[in-house]
Amino acid sequence: MLTWLPARVVALRAKVFEKVNGDNAITFPNDQVGPDRFQELYSHPAANGRSKGAGLSDLFWYWLSPGPEVHQEHLEAGPRYDDVARATRTFLAGPSDALAATATRCTAKVLDEVLTGRVTAVRLRDLMMPVWAEYFYELVFGEPCPRYARDLVVGHANDVVTSLKCTGLRHPARRARLTRYLKARLADVRHPLPETLSEAEQVHYLQGTYFNTAVVQMAEAMAHLLLALAQHPEVARRVEDDRYFAHVLDETFRLYPLFGIAHRITTADIVLDEHTSFPAGSVLCFNYPAYHATGYDNPHEFDPGRWESTAARHEHHIPFGVAANRPCPAWRLSPIVMRAAAREVLRRVDLHSSVTHTRSLPSRGPCLLVRDGPAPRRRLAFMRVRDRWEDVWRSVVQLVLGTAMVLHAHRLRPAGRYFDTHDTQGCPVRH
Ligand code: HEM
Repeated sequence: MLTWLPARVVALRAKVFEKVNGDNAITFPNDQVGPDRFQELYSHPAANGRSKGAGLSDLFWYWLSPGPEVHQEHLEAGPRYDDVARATRTFLAGPSDALAATATRCTAKVLDEVLTGRVTAVRLRDLMMPVWAEYFYELVFGEPCPRYARDLVVGHANDVVTSLKCTGLRHPARRARLTRYLKARLADVRHPLPETLSEAEQVHYLQGTYFNTAVVQMAEAMAHLLLALAQHPEVARRVEDDRYFAHVLDETFRLYPLFGIAHRITTADIVLDEHTSFPAGSVLCFNYPAYHATGYDNPHEFDPGRWESTAARHEHHIPFGVAANRPCPAWRLSPIVMRAAAREVLRRVDLHSSVTHTRSLPSRGPCLLVRDGPAPRRRLAFMRVRDRWEDVWRSVVQLVLGTAMVLHAHRLRPAGRYFDTHDTQGCPVRH
């Protein structure tokens, strides 16, 4: 089979993106700034521009619309960012037990619907997306999620992640249905919304943060965790041990970080030493998988045991970003709720999968959920062949759709046009 094709196509897609975006982006770690100085550069106070001044931003804004201009991740530093970040922290706070109990309940509800026979074939990302739609709906509105709202959220989040991975195009009308729903429910939100945002912007803030980023990231993270457990049954057998579970999670995040690359635009010159400097306006790309692969023995092996003798904070391990430069606000909540959800799944079924486990997981993680009894060997053999074949044609689809979207984003220039008429705090500017 054409097994070499997907890797070539991915490389070609990266080239097309680079060319169209037109940025002079530098990717780290590299010969100039190696793994030992990676975090120093990432944490530099001038490595803090998020959107303004990079062609790459047009592409992200295109994928994350509507409302990328008020998405926390894309806001420039300043009072608006502080206000939004404060609101997000309030939403994501809460006692661990309560956070975990809600995650267990939401997982159980979805599994009750899905598990009908002895063997259920799923794609793990699709299995987990409704769980997190339910979860974040409860977090935002403080009440159980009606089926209608869950479908809107899943439709929206799926559309975003599918286009981000270039396995499908965007469907703005689908996303707009959720916007209309949230607009009608704005008064029911149980925490204060950022005061510096207009009502329309607050709707986009909710949509982008809780019903896109949160749902997508948690569904992806759980797909990786469950797929790793499916392929390492000796690890899955030990997840009731809290300490061991923490190691499993550290290892999953190390090998399959959710961010391939996080970028920053330098807002002033950065001088690391007399030979290493970057002028203001440079686009710095921080490559997570490459960084996470340095400093370990057999870095490409999934081995939770490596964490028995060391702690993540001493190693090249930044699954939630760097503390000094806009880390993920869900760094505390995510492991708590992932543990609860994973245990609820494993309490009910054994997991089996024969697919290739890659970081970007465009296959969405095919897996068999098996209640009582052995793994169905023939179905696993079929799954393996289908996965290799899907890899080949999917990589071509990703190249074609990715090129179409990068050209479309380049023509629309959503970030560029916004900054033509607004300053970094969202105020209109006249030329
Ligand atoms: C296991 C799950 C998750 C992982 C591994 C993860 C990872 C990350 C990483 C690495 C960053 C920083 C990227 C950078 O430096 O630019 C980030 C930022 C962010 N994440 Fe997460 N994330 C997860 C879940 C969530 C959830 C559940 C939310 C819900 C609100 C969330 C909201 C955000 C936001 C708003 C930012 C931007 C922070 C800022 O710029 O101030 N993430 N995430």
